[in-house]
Amino acid sequence: MAEETQKKIILSGIQPTGVFTLGNYLGAVKGWKDLQDEYLCYYFIADLHSMTIHIDPQKRRAQTRQAFALLLACGIDPDKSLVFVQSHNKAHAEMGWIMDCCSQFGELSRMTQFKDKSQKHPDNINAGLFTYPALMAGDILLYQADYVPVGADQTQHLEFTRDVATRFNHTYGEIFKLPEGYYPKAGARVMSLQDPTSKMSKSDPNPKATISILDDPKVIMNKFKSAVTDSEAEVAFREGKDGINNLMTIYSAVTKKTMDEITAEFAGKGYGDFKKAVGEAVCEELRPVRENFDRLMNDRAYLDEQMKKGAERATYIANKTLTKAKKRVGLLLES
Ligand code: AMP
Ligand code: TRP
Repeated sequence: MAEETQKKIILSGIQPTGVFTLGNYLGAVKGWKDLQDEYLCYYFIADLHSMTIHIDPQKRRAQTRQAFALLLACGIDPDKSLVFVQSHNKAHAEMGWIMDCCSQFGELSRMTQFKDKSQKHPDNINAGLFTYPALMAGDILLYQADYVPVGADQTQHLEFTRDVATRFNHTYGEIFKLPEGYYPKAGARVMSLQDPTSKMSKSDPNPKATISILDDPKVIMNKFKSAVTDSEAEVAFREGKDGINNLMTIYSAVTKKTMDEITAEFAGKGYGDFKKAVGEAVCEELRPVRENFDRLMNDRAYLDEQMKKGAERATYIANKTLTKAKKRVGLLLES
């Protein structure tokens, strides 16, 4: 893992807000794993971002450690990629402030995520929630990232990052690379098993709607068994068959089979057989993840060591850009 290589830099973060769902896995983290050879990858647990919503401090701490272990368990290899916890690198908070001062109230007010989240949590519309995109811009710009894999909900923040970077470069001189979104061809969008018109989400109150990547195989099989489908009996990817489309998407993402191959495989069979096959494929896919996770959580020393290593490297890389930015805005550097 040498920075000198000509590889392009990929950077992404994920909030420590609970065990990843099958949606996070198939839509994001599994793809992150596959990028590790072609790109120089930096992945982090966005614990500072998670503070915009109130959760119990003890829980945040536990979830941060757990999320770090989950990334490794999903195949992010700390010998290939830089993996770290955001708050372990102080440069994020410092750069966040610089970005705050380059962000305009008007543009932050237009962020749809701010509007959504402030509606959802009317009792805690904190300033962090409002300036969240500035912190995120700092995360990305600190590492001179070329590409940022993000879901649709984050594209506005990425656009904002480019706007702020352009403004900074224009005002103080070029120091930031403008990042682009990375939209993998194979990234699956996984829908709720109970309401296949809405996204599978960690925060869904109905446990049957969501597969957690640490669910026990029996639980996974049962959830697929009770997944909502339709009254036809044809495994085919068609408009109006949201439930079946979702199961086919999952099956295809795991087995790499095309929709036509899947239709052919289940021709003349019922939904029961299909659901069973999807459940088994998912259990098989997640088995090593669960085993790796258990092993990692039992080896605290190893996890701590990897976190420390990640923090040191992240700090080293980010400080180069941070120092330049501080100089450019006219902060008097310590001698
Ligand atoms: P979140 O859990 O919303 O913070 O999302 C973390 C990452 O997982 C983002 O890149 C999302 O786009 C991705 N993601 C979350 N839920 C899904 C889903 N149901 N299907 C596909 N990708 C998802
Ligand atoms: N805001 C992202 C989310 O909620 C997480 C995140 C924080 C991130 N900083 C980032 C993603 C930088 C990509 C790049 O999902």
